Amino acid sequence: MAEDLQIIRGSKEEQYQSLLPQIRGLLEGENDLVANLANTAAALKEQFGWLWVGFYLVKENELVLGPFQGPVACTRIKKGRGVCGSSWAEAKTLIVPDVEKFPGHIACSSSSRSEIVVPAIRHHEVVAVLDADSIELSQFDATDQQYLEEIITLLNF
Ligand code: SME
Repeated sequence: MAEDLQIIRGSKEEQYQSLLPQIRGLLEGENDLVANLANTAAALKEQFGWLWVGFYLVKENELVLGPFQGPVACTRIKKGRGVCGSSWAEAKTLIVPDVEKFPGHIACSSSSRSEIVVPAIRHHEVVAVLDADSIELSQFDATDQQYLEEIITLLNF
């Protein structure tokens, strides 16, 4: 049984420090990818209250919407399109402080102002991306990148 998530206040660093072992605990002993992605998205949403957080999975050379928390979102994204498709094409984390200044940004929600996308890489190929969107400008920084990249490595893609 999953226990209630312990939500703490504090600096972003402290919040991730508290969340990380809890996510490890949620994933422990479960190898179903969809279940693990769903709980990871829920844990991040509960702790940080971002507008949207979830996963897109590479399927037949497209990103297809996976488990997420937040408003309904576009279901398919092509390689190189938007922030997610660019992160996939470049195989690196992208931090976008102002989505209106990102050429080709795909506005799934008109409330989104900033975004981070972290690719999951397996055998040198991107197999999925973690996407988080905020209603605040400049929400995401190197601390988010560091911890979200660590969280991605905990998932058994
Ligand atoms: N904004 C993303 C699309 C996904 S949604 O935000 C959930 C993009 O530009 O790739």
